[in-house]
Order: sequence, then structure tokens, then C-alpha cells
Amino acid sequence: MNIFITGIAGFLGSNLAHYLADRNHKVFGNDNFIGGYKDNLSKKFIFYETDCCDFNNMKKILKDIDIVIHCAATAYEGLSVFSPSFVTKNIYEASVSTFSAAIENKVKKIIFCSSMARYGEQAFPFTEDMKTIPQDPYGIAKVAAEQTLRNLCDVHGIDWTILVPHNIVGPRQKYDDPYRNVLSIFLNRMLLKKPAIIYGDGTQKRCFSYVDDCIRCIEQTIENTNTSKQIINIGPDEEFITIKELANKCANVTGFNSQHIFHKDRPQEVKFATCSSNKARKLIGYKTKFNLDKSIELTCEYIKKRGPKEFDYQLELEIVNDKTPETWKNKLI
Ligand SMILES: NC(=O)c1ccc[n+]([C@@H]2O[C@H](COP(=O)([O-])OP(=O)(O)OC[C@H]3O[C@@H](n4cnc5c(N)ncnc54)[C@H](O)[C@@H]3O)[C@@H](O)[C@H]2O)c1
Repeated sequence: MNIFITGIAGFLGSNLAHYLADRNHKVFGNDNFIGGYKDNLSKKFIFYETDCCDFNNMKKILKDIDIVIHCAATAYEGLSVFSPSFVTKNIYEASVSTFSAAIENKVKKIIFCSSMARYGEQAFPFTEDMKTIPQDPYGIAKVAAEQTLRNLCDVHGIDWTILVPHNIVGPRQKYDDPYRNVLSIFLNRMLLKKPAIIYGDGTQKRCFSYVDDCIRCIEQTIENTNTSKQIINIGPDEEFITIKELANKCANVTGFNSQHIFHKDRPQEVKFATCSSNKARKLIGYKTKFNLDKSIELTCEYIKKRGPKEFDYQLELEIVNDKTPETWKNKLI
């Protein structure tokens, strides 16, 4: 199959591209390098440096593609209340442009990576039948993109699946980005001999999923007709852990034991967030193969091998006021 992955230099996109190319799919992809790493790319797939918002170019490069997996995004939930224009453009506009170009090229199916941010603050674990009540521009843009995808695919007769990953971790994730990816930030800081920085009291809870476990779900979505026109959470609902406990585990793995630093909560941060994976278990035989300790160990090995790095504040804060975290305003991470 000819499979096109947007955001192919990013964490999920690149891991998926390597995996699918190794299984005899012809893999294509694009990226604009807002995020991701160039060394995530490989000669095993065909790469275009193109912005998803550039509809005309997307239309050209999606010619003869069977499946589009839309991973490109500015996956910045916390930052999205401070840089809403930047985040919304690269979530909503980029998605609509990609979907339109894919539909114009009569692809068989579009798979969209949404986010757990679609559920907002409600009883957990979140299930796919819950209403969407996103709490920030990131989640709002993802939900708008989902609705536009379903609308366009229904009108034009194209198959779709919406996947809802959450807190994926593992190699090829950007670890020098101060605005997101808590596990990679903790590990990178500790390898730089700096303590973890925690927002609030650290009792907020999350689940983490290892990237290979997610990728197997995405692969299933390409071929398995049970996933047609379905919204499916992917990621474990096991090992629900506080952010403070996560920092402690990182300290053990890196051998850097120092008091964590606590900062004011970030606005709109959901306290307890985890998704039920029951639908994924039922439809695509989802099974967690990597537990949290192993996931932390493998992520740490990757950062050590590539080399810990100082944090890169390349993104612009559009709104700077007393609500903006000091860590970002004053570049403390
Ligand atoms: N990683 C997670 O924990 C997680 C959780 C939930 C949802 N998701 C979703 O999964 C997808 C992949 O996330 P990720 O963690 O790999 O993020 P990532 O930032 O590592 O990868 C996204 C890639 O998209 C590229 N990109 C951004 N805007 C673009 C544009 N306009 N045109 C072309 N390329 C563009 C970036 O340069 C980056 O390489 C995203 O849609 C994200 O919202 C990820």
C-alpha cells in the first residue's frame, strides 16, 4: 500500500514510518520541522518538506496514495492557551488542508490522530462515547478537525478512523522542547544534572503508553475493517501514576537524586486524565507489551545515546501575562 504520513519527522510519525516501511509498505511523508528531528527521517521513505497548510502542494504529493495517516500537529496542550493562533493554525488549518487534498486524490482512508484533550475534565477513564468538552485551544482545534473530517468523508464517501492516543513515550520524541513531553523533559533535565520541575503539587495523574504499543494499533487501523468510521482510544489504562511518582522513577533510572522543584499550576491543566482502552482491546486486540518502567528505561537510553541537550525556546509566546508560567517567560527549564 502507498501510505502517506504527515508530520513524518515527528515522534509518532517517524516511528510509524520506520515500522511500516520495514513491513513492505511504500511510505511517503511530509513535515515542516516546527517540531520533530531531522535524524528521525530515513532513506526508507520518501520525504517532502512541505507544510500541511499548503493545500496545492499537498494535493500534488498525495497523488496515488491509498491511506493518509495525519500525525502532523503542534501538539502543545499547555502552551495552547498562550499561543492559540500558532497552535490552532497547525492543528485545524493543517488538518482541513490535508483532508481536502486527500479527498481530492480519492484516497481509500484517512486516519486522524486526535487527542485525549477532546474529553476535557470529566469522569475518568474516558470512553469514546463521552461527549467532547475540550478545555483549551489545542483540544478545541482537535475536536473541530475531527468534526470536519467526519463531515467531509461522509459527503465524499471516504473511510476514516479517529485515533485518540495519550501521553505516548519512547525514542525519537523531542526531549529539548520546554513546552511539552513531561517524561522526556524530566529525563533530559536529570541527565543534565538538573532536578525535575513540576507544576502544582505533582498529584495530577496520567497514564503513559510506549510508542511501539501505539504503532501496532495504528497498523491495525489501516487494514482492519472493524475500525471503519470509529473513534478509538489507544494507549494503556494501566499504571495510572502521579507526576511526582513519575519524576521519582526518572530519578531512579538516571541515578540523579535531588529534590524536585515545584512551580504554580498551569491554567486549565486537567487533574486526572486517562482513557479506557476497552474498545481498542475489542476491535483491534490492543495489548500493552511495554510497562511503564521499561518505557522509561528505553526513553532514557535514547536520550543518553543522542546526547542530553539544553532546552530550545524557539516557539513564540503570543500572550505573556501573570498567568504565563515563569518557567516559560523566564526560560527556567
Ligand atoms: N505524543 C503524544 O503523547 C500524543 C498524545 C495525543 C495525541 N498525539 C497526537 O499525535 C500526533 C503526533 O504527535 P507527536 O507526539 O508525534 O508530535 P511531534 O511534534 O513529535 O510530531 C508532529 C510533527 O508534525 C510536524 N508539523 C507540525 N505542524 C505541521 C504542519 N503545519 N505541516 C507539516 N508538518 C507539521 C512537526 O514538525 C512534527 O515533526 C499529533 O497529532 C498529536 O496531537 C500525540
